[in-house]
Amino acid sequence: MPISERVSLLGSGVFARNDHRKLAYAPAPPDETLGLIDLSLGSTDLPPPPVAVDAMARALAEPASAAYCLHGATRPFREAAAAWVERRFGVEVDPDREVLLLIGSQEGTAHLPLAVLNPGDPALLLDPGYPSHLGGLHLASATPVLLPLEAEHGWRPAFERLPASAWDTLKLMVLGFPHNPTATTGEQAWLDAAVARALDHDVVLLHDNPYVDLALEGTAPALLRHSDWRRCGIELFSLSKSWCLGGYRLAFAVGAEPLITALRQLKGIIDFNQSLALQAGAIAALERAPQWPAQLREVYRQRRDRLSLALEAAGWTVPRPSMALYLWLPLPAAARQRGWSSESVCAELLTATGVCLTPGVGFGPGGEGWLRLALVHPVERLEEAATRMGRWLASL
Ligand SMILES: Cc1ncc(COP(=O)(O)O)c(C=O)c1O
Repeated sequence: MPISERVSLLGSGVFARNDHRKLAYAPAPPDETLGLIDLSLGSTDLPPPPVAVDAMARALAEPASAAYCLHGATRPFREAAAAWVERRFGVEVDPDREVLLLIGSQEGTAHLPLAVLNPGDPALLLDPGYPSHLGGLHLASATPVLLPLEAEHGWRPAFERLPASAWDTLKLMVLGFPHNPTATTGEQAWLDAAVARALDHDVVLLHDNPYVDLALEGTAPALLRHSDWRRCGIELFSLSKSWCLGGYRLAFAVGAEPLITALRQLKGIIDFNQSLALQAGAIAALERAPQWPAQLREVYRQRRDRLSLALEAAGWTVPRPSMALYLWLPLPAAARQRGWSSESVCAELLTATGVCLTPGVGFGPGGEGWLRLALVHPVERLEEAATRMGRWLASL
């Protein structure tokens, strides 16, 4: 049966491969007690704000919640998003022309390239980076240009590596700080440098910012902090991480009017926004649970610190992440000496211990040699994972 080349370019995806491994996992005798500890997804165990869930539950009974939701009906959500932007960044945005509801920021990253690029257009991506950033370029039949991030440079994007002639051909660059998977907050100066390049070379800057509230050290960069954002870019924010609403698929884009208009036009063919019931929950979270992200940060900080100590005691090197939710671990020396890849270490570790991590290579070739661990269980369970990982390491 005919299947498009662009779908074959997407491959199986790191999360799908892990899912397969997790389903196949069964603790081997005599270790039947080693139940799965899944640290492979940034899907939190922490609860969303009750005001958000209550608002959704009440709105579910409204007939309008069952109806298709056209763009006009998303206005209350867009107004709440615009008000949050003003409180958060002191920037006034027009909810009609500069804000758009997304069904998760992942959806926005996958669709924006289709709204901006023509087939073959070159677009810059960070390597490693979030898989939908590359996937979105494949869907648009664009040409990815990978910008490697390196540990020795603190994961700073070295824009100067690309010659001016290459910048002149670029049509889009996709960035995201705080950065998944390297767990690095990043600096506003990095984003400011990207804006300068975008303006100089007429490149659209897409800044994917679902972790804006989850910096543990430093201040999360934001495109909206730059006075010229309207001239070059679009920024995506999400309810998934800051308010633990990932399963409800709620996010929004704020950006230059032509980009918002083009994305809205594209999405008009694809979806009918999100149910009004779920939008009611998002509005409640944005307006009535402003303290939620700060509470989460303290939980993640404790998890980061306690797990790092436990892993170091177990012989694993743990670079200190500056943002919440993830650790980004280099492969242990014993695994590297055996020539194991990040994918084979994840498979071995899961089979031997029941601990599931994500292979760094799933985030691009630059992620090879690394493993991502998501802090999505209580401290005691994370410490149990560290004990098992230490035992496995000692057995190598
Ligand atoms: C960089 C990045 N972008 C987007 C997403 C997806 O977020 P959402 O739930 O808003 O689609 C994630 C999720 O882990 C992410 O790390």
